[in-house]
Amino acid sequence: MNTLTAKVDHKWISFTLRRSWMATMVASKAHFSTIPPQPVIPSKKPFKVDLVGGKRYSWCTCGHSKKQPFCDGSHKSKAQGLSPLRFLPEKDATVWLCGCKYTSNPPYCDGTHKQDFIQSAPLHTHTNS
Ligand code: FES
Repeated sequence: MNTLTAKVDHKWISFTLRRSWMATMVASKAHFSTIPPQPVIPSKKPFKVDLVGGKRYSWCTCGHSKKQPFCDGSHKSKAQGLSPLRFLPEKDATVWLCGCKYTSNPPYCDGTHKQDFIQSAPLHTHTNS
């Protein structure tokens, strides 16, 4: 028997296998991945937001939040591996926060939402689960 120990969601877990872990991985075609999930697209447009200087904000990076563009904690159950981007504006400002979640300048819109891969992608809709 072999024991495989792995860290999953910040907890160490152990598996005891009856045959070598490599044979088990190959035979079952099981795989482990450290690649975080891709965000869903809650909006194909940015959100115009009045930010207050010195106030902490958490911008949703997973797209599952019902309080877009801000985090409501949905990533904990629907997008493990993603976490909100916390930021603190220095002064009051009106800004455009990304709604598609694919900006290269988070949390701000950089125009990526105009690209074809966003415009042709399905819009995420919330379920009650
Ligand atoms: S809304 Fe995401 S880049 Fe504009």
